[in-house]
Amino acid sequence: KRPAGAPDKALAKPVTKVGVIGAGLMASQFALLFVRRLRVPVVITDLDQARVDKGVAYIHDEIGALLGKGRISPDEANRLKALVTGTTDKALFADADWVIEAVFEELGVKQDVFAEIEKHISPEAVLATNTSSLSVEQIGAKLEHPERLVGFHFFNPVAVMPLIEVVHTPHTDEATLSTAMVTAAKLRKNAVITRDTPGFVVNRILAKLLGEAMHAVETGTPFEVVDGAIAPFGLPMTPFELLELVGLTVGAHVLDTHHAAFPDRFYGSPALHKLADYGHVLERDSKGRVKGF
Ligand code: CAA
Repeated sequence: KRPAGAPDKALAKPVTKVGVIGAGLMASQFALLFVRRLRVPVVITDLDQARVDKGVAYIHDEIGALLGKGRISPDEANRLKALVTGTTDKALFADADWVIEAVFEELGVKQDVFAEIEKHISPEAVLATNTSSLSVEQIGAKLEHPERLVGFHFFNPVAVMPLIEVVHTPHTDEATLSTAMVTAAKLRKNAVITRDTPGFVVNRILAKLLGEAMHAVETGTPFEVVDGAIAPFGLPMTPFELLELVGLTVGAHVLDTHHAAFPDRFYGSPALHKLADYGHVLERDSKGRVKGF
């Protein structure tokens, strides 16, 4: 058990180059945040060049949008773009001192990704996972140095959501935790240190909300009644809107993970699984509000 409270800032290691594994939407969003806030080189990789190119194009577009809104100067936009490299060559990760992954939410995939990347990086580099509900300790099961693995869970959309959950395992050392906390502060996010339990804190609560909303619909309450009943609570999005934001596959996975961990307390929603498998998107009315499955 680690001592209570935040780790000593003085233990934090410098982050001078960032490696991002995965070039999907979450990874691209936080790759942009790293380059914008830390102003260090960011290398982004994925399974193939097409995925890498898509991620880099997203980052370039978002930098263009910041320029368009007058948030950054043309010089700054060019500098930021020049700091981003997309590659399928893991050798470019060799001098990264912070490597973070956001690949498919499957334990075996994440374990293999880390075991593979460990061959290419320094033993000093910090490894971070953006998993939203898998066990960080299990993700690091194949690592030679599990003490440098930490959970670093962003929320979607990364640019606006203020929170990062920093997840320590029984092996995470204080220098790694300290680096994570200092890095979160440099990204201008609020970080909370959480235990390595399914869903950490936020998804545990969101899974309850989404699971019960799905259960209500599956057992006969009309979609619009459930959605309309929750809306006045003042949440920025109802559970169904949030479901579409994170994607039905991620939503179904989050419910599954919680149901597997706490079968008596969480609903797994077989219907959501089927919808996700079919690549379903929610129906919207003419004003763009969700109105049903
Ligand atoms: N990417 C980047 N920026 C975005 C964005 C996106 N996808 N969506 C909105 N924004 C930005 C807009 O550009 C705008 O920025 P500026 O003020 O700089 O122009 C700002 O956010 C506000 O946008 P809007 O006025 O268009 O919209 P809004 O006021 O309705 O806010 C929202 C949109 C911030 C998404 C808000 O609806 C919200 O907070 N929703 C809840 C989101 C949430 O709960 N996320 C957690 C998801 S769970 C998760 O991620 C965990 C997991 O592991 C599954």
